Amino acid sequence: MKTPIRVAVTGAAGQIGYSLLFRIASGAVFGPEQPVILHLIEIEPALPALNGVVMELQDCAFPLLKGIVPTADLNEGFKGVNWAFLVGSVPRKAGMERKDLLSINGKIFIGQGKAIAANAAPDIRVLVVGNPCNTNCLIAMNNAKSIPADRWFAMTMLDQNRAVTQLALKAGVDTTDVSGLAIWGNHSSTMYPDYFNAKIGGKPVPEVIKHELWFKETFIPTVQQRGAAIIKARGLSSAASAANAAIETVRNLVNPTPAGHVFSVAVCSDGSYGIEKGLIFSYPIVSDGKSWKIVQGLPLGDFSKEKIAATEKELKEEKALVAELLG
Ligand code: NAI
Repeated sequence: MKTPIRVAVTGAAGQIGYSLLFRIASGAVFGPEQPVILHLIEIEPALPALNGVVMELQDCAFPLLKGIVPTADLNEGFKGVNWAFLVGSVPRKAGMERKDLLSINGKIFIGQGKAIAANAAPDIRVLVVGNPCNTNCLIAMNNAKSIPADRWFAMTMLDQNRAVTQLALKAGVDTTDVSGLAIWGNHSSTMYPDYFNAKIGGKPVPEVIKHELWFKETFIPTVQQRGAAIIKARGLSSAASAANAAIETVRNLVNPTPAGHVFSVAVCSDGSYGIEKGLIFSYPIVSDGKSWKIVQGLPLGDFSKEKIAATEKELKEEKALVAELLG
C-alpha cells in the first residue's frame, strides 16, 4: 500500500465540500491505489456542521481514507499537505462592490498563502476554487513566495465543461466528440471559450456548426452566464458540477493528457500569447503527469484576440485593486 497523501480542503462544510470530499476519499482524484488523509479546514462557526461531514465520511468506511483532520487552525490544517483545494471564501452579498469582495477574500488568501508556505509538504500544489478564484490565487501565491509559481492553479474547468456540453448539444454529438476546447482568462463573465481551436469529431468546430451568429449570440453568453442561470433555477450556486470540475482539474494535472486534447486551468502567466507575466490566467494546458505546459502556437483571429484582451484587462484591474495585498 502506498503512503497516504495529505489533501486539504478549505470551506469543507460548504456546498462544494459536500460533493468534493466524498469523491476524493473514494479515489476519484488520485486513483484507486492512493490512500489519502483529509485535512478539513473551516472557520470556527462552521465547526459543528463540519463535525457532521466528518461523521458522514466515517460512515462511508472508505478503504482509501486513512485519517481526517478537521480544524479551524490554518497551521494544523496545512501541516504536511501535498495538495490543497482552496474552496472556502465569502460570497458576494447584495450591495457589495467587487472591490469589497476582493478585499474581504484577499485577506483570507494572504493568511492561507502564508500558512501553506510555512507548513505544507515540499511538493505542495494548490487549486483555488473560491471566487474570485484567479485573483485569490494571485494573492495566495504572492504571499507564499517560497513555493514555485508553477504549483498554483485557479479553476476554469467548470467553464470548459459547460462549453463542451453546449457545443455537443448544438451539433447533436456526444461530449466525447468535442476536443481542444479551452477557456482563456478570468473565471468570470469575461472568460473566453475559444471555439475556433476546438474540434468536433476531429473537424474544426466552425466547419461543423456553420452558424456564426449562434456562437456570438448564444454560445458565449450561455457559457459566461451559466453560473447565474443555475442560481436562478436552483436557488443555490452550482456545487456538484463545481466539485466535479475541481476533481477533473487535479486529475488532468496528475495524469498525462491524451494526444489531441487540452484542458483549461488558470496558471501563473509566463507572458505566453502576450499576456502580462504573473497574472493567473486560464490557458489551454497539457500535462505529462508531472509537469504542465501552456500549448503554444495556436492561431488567434481578431475576434479571439479582442475577447482575450478584454479578460486580461479585467484581471489587471482586479490585480490593481488588491495591489497592497500582494506582499
Ligand atoms: P458555501 O457558502 O456553501 O461554502 C463555503 C464554505 O467556506 C462555508 O462553509 C464557509 O464557512 C467556508 N469559509 C468561509 N471563509 C473561510 C475561511 N476563511 N477558511 C475556511 N473556510 C471558510 O459555498 P460553495 O457553494 O461551497 O462555494 C465555495 C466557493 O466556490 C465560492 O466562492 C464560489 O463562488 C466558488 N465557486 C467557484 C467556481 C469556479 O468555477 N471557480 C464554481 C462554483 C463556485
